[in-house]
Amino acid sequence: MKIRVGVFFGGQSVEHEVSVITAMQAAAALDRTKYEPVAVYVTKELAFFTGENLLSIESFRDIPAALRAAQRVTLVRDGAEVHMTAYPPKKLRSSDMGVLHAALLAFHGTTGEDGCMQGMLETLMLPYTGCDVTASAIGMDKWAMKAAFMMNGVPCLPAARISRTEYYADTAAAAECAERGAGGSYPIIVKPYNLGSSVGIGLAHDRAELLTALEEALQYSNAAICERAITSLREINCSVLGDSDGARASVCEEPLGQEGFLSYADKYQGGGKGAKGSGSEGMRSLSRKVPAELTPEQTAQAQKLALDAFGAVGAEGVARVDLMLDTADGSFYVNEINTIPGSLSFYLWEHSGLSFTQLLDELLELAFKRRRRRDSLHFSFDVNLLANATLGGGKNGGKGGVKGGAS
Ligand SMILES: Nc1ncnc2c1ncn2[C@@H]1O[C@H](COP(=O)(O)OP(=O)(O)O)[C@@H](O)[C@H]1O
Ligand SMILES: [Mg+2]
Repeated sequence: MKIRVGVFFGGQSVEHEVSVITAMQAAAALDRTKYEPVAVYVTKELAFFTGENLLSIESFRDIPAALRAAQRVTLVRDGAEVHMTAYPPKKLRSSDMGVLHAALLAFHGTTGEDGCMQGMLETLMLPYTGCDVTASAIGMDKWAMKAAFMMNGVPCLPAARISRTEYYADTAAAAECAERGAGGSYPIIVKPYNLGSSVGIGLAHDRAELLTALEEALQYSNAAICERAITSLREINCSVLGDSDGARASVCEEPLGQEGFLSYADKYQGGGKGAKGSGSEGMRSLSRKVPAELTPEQTAQAQKLALDAFGAVGAEGVARVDLMLDTADGSFYVNEINTIPGSLSFYLWEHSGLSFTQLLDELLELAFKRRRRRDSLHFSFDVNLLANATLGGGKNGGKGGVKGGAS
């Protein structure tokens, strides 16, 4: 029997559409001799749907029509298996929509890349690709990520975190805090703390622009990260594949934007302001140099930093680490780790001698390995605390009041 792989995508995220593209690319690349892809599309309202039609990009030109032709489902664990069941249940036929043996996660952004879906899949005990709950959550929070980098000696820019509450309670104090955290000079870059794809990011050259940028970022997120903007910047990205037992770095790429910083249009619509590309090629359509033009020493340094960043957040599966090279003095900083990178970074692995099909195979193997490891953990002690327990209360009250306890 083939391994039924749920290709999970969509979700409540500003990167919902990009996720559809990643999912279609991945489903098409899965080794069909071994795996059977099953679409699990999550709408922006967080309803789950399955259906053959949801494995074809054309269906997503008219999403309401695609959903009418698909089946809404919920996921349940039944004995040793995880099944999809029709919702609402069917009256005259079985509601069982089939078993899933693993989840291939192709989400980007909130609810899918930030630990939420990972948590749901943990409770279902369904193996899933990529980072676990904690690493996913750290990777989505630009502040927690910096903390993890700094604790592990990974070079990154110091910053300030300004919450919406702080900003509207005392705007001047918040602006001062932002300026101080960013190193005391302009220009300053302001980003929502938990988004991706450059959504809500602004550049400020003075206090007035800082306030505008903060207000913009705080429309998308409850907090904004402010850091020094590197003015002589080259962006270098490197993918990492593996887990804590061993990971390797891909070739590096240099994405080439047409604006001051890479915008959503640059990343997905093939150009700068006003570009009209369909975006259907996802991250592949971004103009980029692969491999990046770097000296062998710079390449080695970038790959080492990528591996260090991957380890610092406890990442697993495939991630992309985005570095900033300050050409003024040649120093590298780790900007961020993307725990479910656009197009799963397959184009970087192709350049490193691994096909997309092989990459997916490795990701699924890692997912099964993590599940096996979790399954071998003990979740109970020999002493059955509840065998003779009563809620006695008594003198000790609370915890100490449980009789027959092992504490
Ligand atoms: N400190 C910085 N200096 C200069 N440019 C930056 C800085 N931080 C981010 N950028 C630019 O903004 C883009 C988006 O920022 P990033 O932190 O990667 O957020 P996102 O999660 O939205 O991709 C980067 O790709 C880069 O072009
Ligand atoms: Mg980025």
